[in-house]
Amino acid sequence: MKQLKPLVLSGRSVLPLIEGGKGISVTNGASAGAWAAAGGVGTFSSVFGDLYDENGNLIPLIFNGKTRKERHDELIEYAIKAGVCQAKIAHDVSGGNGCIHMNILWGISSVEAILHGVLEQTKGLVHGVTCGAGMPFKLAEIAANYGVYYYPIVSSSRAFNLLWLRAYKKHREWLGGVVYEDPWKAGGHNGISNKEDPEVAESPYERVRMLRETLSQHGMADVPIIMAGGVWFLREWSDWIDNSALGPIAFQFGTRPLLTVESPIPSTWKNKLLDMHEGDVILNHFSPTGFYSSSFNNAFLQNLQNLSQRQIKVYADEEGGPEGMAPRTTLSMGGARERYAYIDLSDLDRATGWIADGYSKIVRTPDATIVFMTPSEFEKIRSDQLHCGGCLTYCRFSNWSENGEISKDRIPDPRSYCIRKTLYNVAHSGDVDNELVFAGHTAYLFGQDPFYANGFIPTVKQLIDRILSGD
Ligand SMILES: Cc1cc2nc3c(=O)[nH]c(=O)nc-3n(C[C@H](O)[C@H](O)[C@H](O)COP(=O)(O)O)c2cc1C
Ligand code: SF4
Repeated sequence: MKQLKPLVLSGRSVLPLIEGGKGISVTNGASAGAWAAAGGVGTFSSVFGDLYDENGNLIPLIFNGKTRKERHDELIEYAIKAGVCQAKIAHDVSGGNGCIHMNILWGISSVEAILHGVLEQTKGLVHGVTCGAGMPFKLAEIAANYGVYYYPIVSSSRAFNLLWLRAYKKHREWLGGVVYEDPWKAGGHNGISNKEDPEVAESPYERVRMLRETLSQHGMADVPIIMAGGVWFLREWSDWIDNSALGPIAFQFGTRPLLTVESPIPSTWKNKLLDMHEGDVILNHFSPTGFYSSSFNNAFLQNLQNLSQRQIKVYADEEGGPEGMAPRTTLSMGGARERYAYIDLSDLDRATGWIADGYSKIVRTPDATIVFMTPSEFEKIRSDQLHCGGCLTYCRFSNWSENGEISKDRIPDPRSYCIRKTLYNVAHSGDVDNELVFAGHTAYLFGQDPFYANGFIPTVKQLIDRILSGD
């Protein structure tokens, strides 16, 4: 196993080992500070983190606003205060060692306001910003404005090239590194584009080599690339270290740090990780952001899969279409106004079967289909949509849009979920069965790696030492 050498990241010489930022409240000041104190890079999440009072007690966000816009404004104000609070904790815990980064998603609403709000009040505490989930063109300008380094998270050299040509080349000096996140392996949201097949994973080596080629073409052979997604035993990445085709390289861990003493996730979540098996994490496409994501295949996800199974096509009229096409029929949608849906006659038995089984609430989707759910499932969806706090730039689940440009005819998608609510819940209540739980595809290794035998949970420092040993 080749020895990892220190690398300059965000202007500081650190171990090239990075805590991947995780919202909501999955990486915070305490975890980031511990990574930095151990000589690596800690990353607190600024995606609707927790705000504490001077005694360290959580100040819960309680919405007073009646409209989604009012609640959105309250949410953003809270997010800024929480980001500043976590940055201060990270700084204190780090004791001035290592490096502190802040993570944010470009797909959350008012992302620029949050960046400005946090960076303005954390001068000297935050050394870099990592940002993915979308094309963060403005990231460079904002980071440069505050004299902090920026780290776009990309899943292809093509995406970086676009960012560079359109926006980043004006702010070359603050580009701290480029995170390559393997879209088939990493936990959280995954940048699989419509050019890639979610079923066919491509080799990270070749894609990172191409990213290095792109960076070198633009005169940035020296800018570090941070490999994220599927990294567990560093010995398996030996040929990536001191490899001139890849250039300076660092490694980012998202899943492994979940199971550390300083990781703020509830103990139920940590215990579940100790008992993971291959296939327990799956790539799916239910997120209201529209991105693929990787999470536990638990009851929460299975409910979404089952709902999508109880789905049939609907038509604008009862006409059978050109000769030879399946005949259609009408299905009562129920409700006070006795609405009807036009469906294929061949779907009628399935539909009436689902209704007889209790899935009697029929709901339209934006893709000219209907889904069948229980009345209580429907009530929960309606309640989540009504209590929307406007956290995303655009949410397919509630049809909230930050710029308000959604056509009134567009139907909110019942096959998705309120991501802010479920991620908040799992991070605070720890119900790992009935909430969304992001995880990388290597999470099953917790159940196999002898490091975790007998339920051992390392400190961040112990984890970093273990990683450095190659294991
Ligand atoms: C629970 C969880 C939440 C995550 N949340 C975010 C996030 O909010 N922003 C982000 O950029 N990446 C997020 N990630 C991705 C990590 O930062 C990291 O890049 C990724 O997990 C690395 O791959 P690995 O899971 O194979 O270690 C998340 C990952 C996990 C497991
Ligand atoms: S419904 Fe969508 S936009 Fe509204 S709070 Fe939930 S995830 Fe965010």
